[in-house]
Amino acid sequence: MSKESNILVCDDDETLCYLLKEQLLEEGFAVQTVYGGKDAIEAVKSKNYDVLLLDLKMKEVSGEDVLKFVSGHSPSLQVIILTAESDIDNALKLTKMGAFYYISKPYNFDTLILTINRAIENKNLLVKTTILDKQINKNIQSDMIGTSKEILKVIMLANKSAKSESNVLIEGETGTGKELLAEYVHKNSPRSEKPFVVINCASLPDQLIESELFGHERGAFTDAKTSKQGLVEIADGGTLFLDEIGEMSITLQPKLLRFLENGEYRRIGSVSNLSSDVRVIGATNKKLLEEIENNNFRRDLLFRLNVITLTLPPLRERKEDILLLANHFLEIKSPIRSPKRLSPSTEDLLTNYDFPGNVRELDHIIERAIIFSSDDIIKPEDLNLPTTKKMIQSSNMSNEFTEILPMEEIEKIHLVKALDFFDWDRAKTSYKLGISIKTLYSKIKKYSLTQQ
Ligand SMILES: Nc1ncnc2c1ncn2[C@@H]1O[C@H](COP(=O)(O)OP(=O)(O)OP(=O)(O)O)[C@@H](O)[C@H]1O
Ligand SMILES: [Mg+2]
Repeated sequence: MSKESNILVCDDDETLCYLLKEQLLEEGFAVQTVYGGKDAIEAVKSKNYDVLLLDLKMKEVSGEDVLKFVSGHSPSLQVIILTAESDIDNALKLTKMGAFYYISKPYNFDTLILTINRAIENKNLLVKTTILDKQINKNIQSDMIGTSKEILKVIMLANKSAKSESNVLIEGETGTGKELLAEYVHKNSPRSEKPFVVINCASLPDQLIESELFGHERGAFTDAKTSKQGLVEIADGGTLFLDEIGEMSITLQPKLLRFLENGEYRRIGSVSNLSSDVRVIGATNKKLLEEIENNNFRRDLLFRLNVITLTLPPLRERKEDILLLANHFLEIKSPIRSPKRLSPSTEDLLTNYDFPGNVRELDHIIERAIIFSSDDIIKPEDLNLPTTKKMIQSSNMSNEFTEILPMEEIEKIHLVKALDFFDWDRAKTSYKLGISIKTLYSKIKKYSLTQQ
């Protein structure tokens, strides 16, 4: 256990620091020493330690001040107070404030090691309990992260619309959280115990979308060997989320319109009407009014859908949510035993980046950075942002390997080239690339590609 553990020793007595360090290194701990409270605070800010051995009496910033900072900043860091025999009362006071224990100087080395190991056990237990707590709370809490006034406005409207039965249209650029918001509305609605069913209107050809949505009877078309229930039936009593509704073909739109008007529909190949009680939430990253002008979308369908419109702002217009979201992704994606943190310059870089792929792009950037970072601090070069690459090159840190791109990067570049060539016509692009339109859509999503 002790081998992986990081100890920070803070004492203004440099000789004592030196001796302690030597002894602890021998025991297999990783050790760093600082000679004052101010340096201890800086060290805690930049690295995750397991245990802090903290002198009580120091000039300028006292042990008590350091403990106060640690309690707020790194509550799982275990602090062991090093104190003179004469000051034990004060040390006891600090254990009441959150320090793990105290050791009086001159210390007995065996007792010190025993206390350090106990402190490490305590920390591990604390981390485990926090994770369990989070998992339990996750189902109760809202999953929409953000404190910017822009996102809070959307969440407030979403809460109101959750209580109503009206259809909802969610607008927003790719990766802004449209599906998450639709789920949020469902979870907070009286329908929350019933199914939340998702269909992506762009993922399949027309006839398949119709059969997915409304079902079909046996023999309705060549491949219809058995009859099949539609998603509107499966979603009965719940919510149907129509993703990328702007991509629905103009021939299918009247059938959806009829369903929205009176809840009635027909399976393909059937002559009788069925009905289902479904609340519909549509999402689009297109400007539907423009689609109407171009005869790609029915005006009456838009008016049925957008009884309530929720517009998710792009991430670059709510910059104060960037670090909150980044830390959220770090927390849920870092390995449990070594949570990672962003260095201040990484934070700056993220805050100043535009995120054309919005929250999904940020999510991917953090996930990749966790894998590529060599220690528990995420540095700017771990992010692999276009701006970082430039920075690395201009500071002459590059070598010939910078030019050798990972396979995924090459696929991404090739996809953008092909999509641009066909003016983002997905059908033509997927045909030329020899992949299904569904695969193309999932790759566009995976790499957070957007039309510039
Ligand atoms: N406010 C948020 N809080 C936490 N996670 C978020 C938030 N917004 C988006 N995400 C996460 O970002 C990712 C993308 O979100 P989502 O799939 O909902 O976006 P979208 O707008 O539907 O994207 P697309 O247009 O590409 O379909 C998901 O992993 C989602 O959980
Ligand atoms: Mg989506």
